[in-house]
Amino acid sequence: MTTAPTAPTSSDGPSGVRDPDAVDLGLPDAVPDPALPTRVRIHEVGPRDGLQNEKSAVPVEVKAEFIERLAAAGLATVEATSFVHPKWVPQLADAEELMPRLARLPERHPGLRLPVLVPNERGLDRALAHHATDIAVFASATETFARRNLNRSADEAMEMFRPVVGRAAEAGVPTRGYLSMCFGDPWEGPVPQSQVIDFGLRLLDLGCTELSLGDTIGVATPGQVTALLQGFTRAGVPIERIAVHFHDTYGQALANTLAALRSGVSTVDASAGGLGGCPYAKSATGNLATEDLVWMLHGLGIETGVDLRALVATSGWMARQLGRPSPSRAVQALFHQSA
Ligand code: HMG
Ligand code: MG
Repeated sequence: MTTAPTAPTSSDGPSGVRDPDAVDLGLPDAVPDPALPTRVRIHEVGPRDGLQNEKSAVPVEVKAEFIERLAAAGLATVEATSFVHPKWVPQLADAEELMPRLARLPERHPGLRLPVLVPNERGLDRALAHHATDIAVFASATETFARRNLNRSADEAMEMFRPVVGRAAEAGVPTRGYLSMCFGDPWEGPVPQSQVIDFGLRLLDLGCTELSLGDTIGVATPGQVTALLQGFTRAGVPIERIAVHFHDTYGQALANTLAALRSGVSTVDASAGGLGGCPYAKSATGNLATEDLVWMLHGLGIETGVDLRALVATSGWMARQLGRPSPSRAVQALFHQSA
């Protein structure tokens, strides 16, 4: 039976977030679809992709607690921070302070992976010095975004990543390859599929173990997602190596995710509470909210390992820290006051 979320109560906090313990979390009836995977791995990006875009700096102890709470909610992959130039992303300039605070987490949550973003060898040195076990490089399918985000042409960026991926592999550290602007670019418009596939193949050829296809500005629609994934499959890329990373600018993130699942994708990026955007991409709004994703997946009978109640409580807590309500529809339905 579906239970309706309870009405706002006097336990509502000052930022419109209800006390998690006072809320009865309704869950959807699960109706499985045999065309979809039975399990999805959620790659949680809130602490990195979400917080990199916050105007105010979030204290390092709040970041550590956020990550710990996400792990406790059952998220097995939580992207923790970035070893980029601190002047480029000041919000994550405390990566060196954060990492030691996370050191014991994998003992408490066996199987937990805490990837970090690394743009170049300097970033890799910093990440390895702090015992990172998983890293990610981030390329662009367009020239303009490569220059704005990495101060390099798209080709130069690929060459910057080559020694990073190689040295990481020698150290036993797998590298995820992000590819941004896979569907549209705010400066260049629609991005040809052949261009996206070319850069994606190059990331895999460098040795990236996984390729995350980013709709950085959230313009994709489901047919485009299906077509791009078919293109990668035709190019010989096993679908198991592809993850999807959607932004919800036009409200398409869940529809696009469903299209990707129907194409066989089973790794989906999402950000707790819908935090995020990109500091170097105008019109990049929030990432797909992890709660909205989990609601849909559980409704489809797909296992995630995530405790939705604990996750919503975490995003409600984070909304209080940030002093504003979460944009996640599921968090709003379950925790925030209706207008
Ligand atoms: P640059 O200015 O060209 O760097 O920036 P450089 O190589 O010319 O070096 C200049 C100075 O910076 C040197 O110091 C380096 O040591 C230092 P100096 O010798 O002059 O004293 N430096 C560093 N210091 C600390 N850590 C480093 C580092 N690298 C160089 N890693 C750079 C090039 C790539 C560093 C810069 O452009 C950068 O940090 N960009 C990162 C931007 C970023 O993080 N954007 C957001 C992430 S991408 C994203 O959000 C999309 C994604 O979420 C998916 C999606 O949604 O589509 C992944
Ligand atoms: Mg993103």
